[in-house]
Amino acid sequence: MNKEKVIVTSALPYANGPIHLGHLSGAYLPADIYVRYKRLNGDDILYICGSDEHGVPITITADKEKITPKDVIDRFHNINRESFEKFGMSFDIYSRTSLPEHHETAKEFFLKYYNQGLLKEKKSLQFFDESKKMFLPDRYVEGTCPKCGNESARSDECENCGALYEQTELINPVSKISGNRPILKETTHWYFPLNEFQERLEKYVGDMNEKFGWKETVLQYCKSWFKEGLTDRAYTRDLDWGVKVPLDGAEGKVFYVWFEAVLGYISATKELSAKIGNPDLWKNYWQDSSTKYIAFIGKDNIVFHTIIFPAMLMAWNDASEEKYILPQNVPANEFLNFEGKKFSKSRNWGIDAIDFLKEFPADPLRYTLAANLPENRDTDFYWKEFQARNNNELADILGNFINRTFTFVHKHFDGIVPNQNTLSERDSEMLKLVESYPSRIAEYFERYKIKDGVAEIMNLARAGNKYFNDSEPWKTIKSNRDECATTLNISLQTIFTLTELLSPVI
Ligand code: 2FM
Ligand code: ZN
Repeated sequence: MNKEKVIVTSALPYANGPIHLGHLSGAYLPADIYVRYKRLNGDDILYICGSDEHGVPITITADKEKITPKDVIDRFHNINRESFEKFGMSFDIYSRTSLPEHHETAKEFFLKYYNQGLLKEKKSLQFFDESKKMFLPDRYVEGTCPKCGNESARSDECENCGALYEQTELINPVSKISGNRPILKETTHWYFPLNEFQERLEKYVGDMNEKFGWKETVLQYCKSWFKEGLTDRAYTRDLDWGVKVPLDGAEGKVFYVWFEAVLGYISATKELSAKIGNPDLWKNYWQDSSTKYIAFIGKDNIVFHTIIFPAMLMAWNDASEEKYILPQNVPANEFLNFEGKKFSKSRNWGIDAIDFLKEFPADPLRYTLAANLPENRDTDFYWKEFQARNNNELADILGNFINRTFTFVHKHFDGIVPNQNTLSERDSEMLKLVESYPSRIAEYFERYKIKDGVAEIMNLARAGNKYFNDSEPWKTIKSNRDECATTLNISLQTIFTLTELLSPVI
């Protein structure tokens, strides 16, 4: 297979709280397994992530805890970096969007659009809290979703049905800082004309799907967006925490967090390039059409990665010699629940990665989550299943096979790999199976079917145990030492292949 040049990103988690197991199995573990597999394959990979440190999620947490946004992001950036490290994530960089390099990149994109006359400056009515004397963008207001009736919908985005709408469409709005009903007040913002990109976006999604097979859920999200029709989206907000809008008369305004967060992937790559003393390296990836870009995310982030970010990159490319690549695939996962219910900070339900990893090593968790990834439907983490995967699979199948083989080789062959002698039919079949495995697993991983790939690997350990049992080396060691040597030789080869195939996972 030809070696590939690949950028892999995992969604930049908000630094407003500790990541939990649901995050890990949504956008992080599958990406890490994919990346480790690709590196093993000799592909040229950059794996990029970092903290998303702006936006209302951060300021609301700061308000609640009566600390500054900077305190919030410093605290959770460090906690999450540590969680990822303990979990064995192999990012090439874990950056943060509060860095000056990122602010510069975001401004550069914004000004590119502004100077090309793409952005529309418009006055509109926005929620305003009279008691607090401030505008209430995004999550500062909650109400009933105009599309599905969810009563805790955000001001312009519903987590339940995925709809995006204008603030004025929200039913029964309530200010999250005062509990009052907000008034509507006029303010100016800059809008990106997404609608002008609809045709090209539909073609892009269609082409990518045809060539690279996008997930059905991802396609369906895109299709329902296209069906609704894309509209202008404000890329600025009235807030003082964020990347300041670099225009006269835009005091007190910052970029919409999603506009700059997706650019964080690019600025993090710039930071990595500078760090390794090759400041232009990032261009070799982001601005080289031979690079393939894969964006791992959870399903709540689909529109931002399949529509908003691609449109932004198209708009840049329209006005520039250097052309960015667009995501080739966005293998978004569904959600992982915890013991039958949604993870919820407010309802105190779930377990944070950092706490879990204080009690248990990463590998049994990585294996359990990988075996149960929410790739096509929501799945659950159950403590009982964690115990069973560890005891019945990692220990009793994989561990047992390795242990009995090694023990036997040490006891009867001085710990030296015994020779392979004449092959029986069973030996040949086992060898054929082992040899077929790397390409078979690669096929799963290349199609982002990580869960099925991992299940298949464990099947090889099962087959190894069966082969060992059926070959009865404890008998042949007395009756036919050559035959016994062959059994052990093939068992060791199976273990070698297993360790290689499992190395991206545990
Ligand atoms: O959902 C989230 O946690 C967002 N912070 C993800 C951002 S992904 C990308 F845009 F950076
Ligand atoms: Zn809704």
